[in-house]
Amino acid sequence: MNDLKAPAGVGEARLTPAQVRAMYPGALSQTYLDVAGRGLVGTPVRTAIERHLDMRMLGGDKPAMFALVERTRASFARLINAHPDEVAYTKNISEGLNIVATAIDWKPGDNVVLCADLEHANNVYVWLNVARRFGVEVRTIPMRAGACPVEEMSAAVDARTRIATVCAVSFAPGFRADLAPLSEACLRHDALLLVDGAQSAGLVDTDVDRPGIDAFAVSTQKGLLALYGMGFLYVRRRWAERLAPMSLARFGVDLGEKGEAALGDFDFRLMPGARRFDLGNYNFIGAAAAEASMDLLHRVGMAEVEAHNTALAVRLAEGLQALGLPLIGEPCGPQRSQIVMIGALGEGHDAADDGKMQSLYEHLSDHGVKLSVRRGALRFSIHVYNDDSDIERVLELCRSWQAGNGRRG
Ligand SMILES: Cc1ncc(COP(=O)(O)O)c(C=O)c1O
Repeated sequence: MNDLKAPAGVGEARLTPAQVRAMYPGALSQTYLDVAGRGLVGTPVRTAIERHLDMRMLGGDKPAMFALVERTRASFARLINAHPDEVAYTKNISEGLNIVATAIDWKPGDNVVLCADLEHANNVYVWLNVARRFGVEVRTIPMRAGACPVEEMSAAVDARTRIATVCAVSFAPGFRADLAPLSEACLRHDALLLVDGAQSAGLVDTDVDRPGIDAFAVSTQKGLLALYGMGFLYVRRRWAERLAPMSLARFGVDLGEKGEAALGDFDFRLMPGARRFDLGNYNFIGAAAAEASMDLLHRVGMAEVEAHNTALAVRLAEGLQALGLPLIGEPCGPQRSQIVMIGALGEGHDAADDGKMQSLYEHLSDHGVKLSVRRGALRFSIHVYNDDSDIERVLELCRSWQAGNGRRG
């Protein structure tokens, strides 16, 4: 089970974003700007899945499957500068968040700090449930013009705060949060900083030590460019070993080299680090897919991936603004991520609140641009397989829409 090979990418040839693009037919056949919804699946991922199925059609090799699980765990750990023991397997972000939430020994009067305005519902209901079950206070701080109110959140952290939680990049309007002040406040008050990495994993160069992130929940179908139904949960070792998993199974129990169905002493010892949160058999096919896609990210390098994504996002944001379209936020600066939005933040999901923006959305969609509408505004999101031609295509279509509509927008 601990048959760790070299992490993916080590010793392998570097790749450029252009070389990655050539492996993504879905990036060539359309203008795909929707990684914030889901990332594309590339040919290396398809090949890895097919190989896994070929192996399973002959029954399957369990030691090889466990070795795959460990290689993929190590690969994700390397992506965020963590140790493999600090990574658990999950099926999605919600599961990761709930694992942390239910492993805390809550006392009535404890509190959790977040900005509910900016979080996905999945990082809100988990805390409402905790509040209802354990008498915990949910301290939600209003957003500031679409931005994460990190200073106010940091000020709200106190001796009774057990968790502060935030998304590193929001799903709308897609601004980055400055995690440093919150990380310091959590450290000062012995609270756990839990980060939702839905819109940052595989997209933003993340180092869990800079600034200190105590737990990081991700899924693999967006920036990690693999499948739905599979995620990872990083938990800093010193925190993981203070937490008691609410759910426990064999892989969470330390039985040394004993087999996968072994039953040890009833006075059991938990696995080190985040391994205690692993439950039952793994999503092996999801791990095969994620190993292949993370290999590409390693071979480009996360710093390069982030720089590539941000540069294209700045170009798109500046271009949209130059056309007089209502860009949300600034084209560049500390809040800039790979997500670019236009319109006004409202309520709509898959339909823009404003008729003009809906008309532009339909024009873009009708001409092969894949984007999404979140919180009533148009959302473009960029990954390593995108290039300048995608940005040019969107800007050209915005111009033709304006020309056809007497310069609206
Ligand atoms: C910020 C954020 N958190 C969570 C999720 C989804 O969570 P889950 O992986 O549990 O479905 C999304 C999906 O769009 C998201 O954007």
